[in-house]
Amino acid sequence: MGPLLLVAALSCGRLHSSPTATVLAGVYTPAQARRGRQIFKDQCASCHGVDLAGFSGPPLKGTIFLDRWREFPLEVLFDLIKTTMPANNAGGLSHAAYLDVLAYLLESNEIPAGSKELTDQVAAGTRLVGKDGPQPLPTSAQVSAVGCLTLDTGNGWFLTHASEPERTFDTFEATPEELKEAAATPFGDELFRLANIDDLPHFDRDGLVDNKVEAKGILVRQPNNARINVNSLVKVGSGCDQ
Ligand code: HEC
Repeated sequence: MGPLLLVAALSCGRLHSSPTATVLAGVYTPAQARRGRQIFKDQCASCHGVDLAGFSGPPLKGTIFLDRWREFPLEVLFDLIKTTMPANNAGGLSHAAYLDVLAYLLESNEIPAGSKELTDQVAAGTRLVGKDGPQPLPTSAQVSAVGCLTLDTGNGWFLTHASEPERTFDTFEATPEELKEAAATPFGDELFRLANIDDLPHFDRDGLVDNKVEAKGILVRQPNNARINVNSLVKVGSGCDQ
């Protein structure tokens, strides 16, 4: 993500766990996508390509594109487009035109249409997913996950019984609401190696080990090795009893 995009994403501030309703429920109409297609041709195609495959701007369809935005509420992508695009005329379109063009992006990414037009409320309450539905987060994603902080002597630190990692904007600080949510998140059956723990400022080893924690950082997926490069580690429950 370029600096421009990161600022836009951060400016949305709040991000609670992503909604469970997904764009696969049919969140735009064919007519809306048709309008969006025309707007795209006039306002976006010069940089992103008529086929959305990218030109001077990045591609707006396919795996690389979706991996940056999926599993976020759809409004995260919407806010970015609305506030930073077209790059040469940011914020220059009407609100309705931005919604239409987003509908066209969904259609171009093989998300099926439905019977109601896309609105702000729907964008806020719906998770963007690819056509195959919710998927584990890709490598390099900024994540938070809840689990048991476990030291395997000689082998290093692990987050055991971990929940499925969620998207987060800030991997260095956890807000009180996030910690409340983390405390209420049940243990799961994921396992992550935790890297960089000993570099954390004020790492309270004895206070944290064998307790329920929220870990935030960068997810790194390699064959047979899923790891979180930890930037923040906070205790959210006593002990690791399931
Ligand atoms: C003048 C060129 C230009 C125009 C016109 C333009 N964009 Fe962009 N767009 C860019 C560039 C360059 C980036 C990458 C910015 C960065 O990484 O900081 C970008 C990034 C994006 C992204 C984020 C892609 C990603 O996965 O990171 C989206 C979505 C997007 N544009 C949508 C649109 C839409 C929709 C329109 C039309 C309303 C539009 N753009 C018009 C140049 C343009």
